[in-house]
Amino acid sequence: MSSIAIVNQKGGCGKSTAAGHLIRWLYSKGHSVALVDADAQQSSSMWIHAIASNESEKFTPTVEVWGTSDEILEGLPEVVSQHDFTIIDGPAGISELTRAILLRADLALVPVQPTGFDIRSAADAVRLIKQAQSVRGGMPKAALFLSRAVKGTKLKEEAGEVLEEFGLPVLSTIIHQRQVVADTYTQELTVFEMKGRPATDSAREFNALFEEAIAL
Ligand SMILES: Nc1ncnc2c1ncn2[C@@H]1O[C@H](COP(=O)(O)OP(=O)(O)OP(=O)(O)O)[C@@H](O)[C@H]1O
Ligand SMILES: [Mg+2]
Repeated sequence: MSSIAIVNQKGGCGKSTAAGHLIRWLYSKGHSVALVDADAQQSSSMWIHAIASNESEKFTPTVEVWGTSDEILEGLPEVVSQHDFTIIDGPAGISELTRAILLRADLALVPVQPTGFDIRSAADAVRLIKQAQSVRGGMPKAALFLSRAVKGTKLKEEAGEVLEEFGLPVLSTIIHQRQVVADTYTQELTVFEMKGRPATDSAREFNALFEEAIAL
């Protein structure tokens, strides 16, 4: 009975990757889950379908692909009412669709890559969130997090501080750039099922990120 949107109009920051991992994480905790894929490329829905068809255990999430504001505004309440958690994978570029998502979601998570350009672009997502919060009396709850960060870079250290200036909570967990995460699409898995140290490290990060987000 709760919806979590991963939004940021900036492309390639890790929205679909986070959405797919979040749905698997919630499912593994015993929750009923739905994915609403609002991204025209449909990468998260294709990935989740592939994982579901690969599975020996029964992973049967509801998957909707909705590319219009009307579908989001009119369709979401029913899907949300039928599942413990509904995850919405936001689109790149299309502000109107993101605006509709933010009018319905309970929680918005904004992945931001630690580059100057991406941080500046995050202001667009923050602006839409604040508009929705103003219309909806403070909803959706929202937080930013650093995504695809390269270990040991100065930029990463500075980025966290800059994000604080947007006036929204910044999650303390950072999702680092790792080849295993990039491989999850073609492997038709998430890092939670993958073997080896990089996958375990990444799984630990996603686990910590989602624990933080759910507690907001
Ligand atoms: N932590 C990570 N480490 C390595 N690669 C990653 C990581 N997160 C995402 N990627 C890769 O970066 C690319 C973009 O990620 P993703 O598709 O999740 O971003 P997106 O925000 O959904 O993009 P779009 O805005 O185009 O929908 C993909 O190839 C993905 O595999
Ligand atoms: Mg995407």
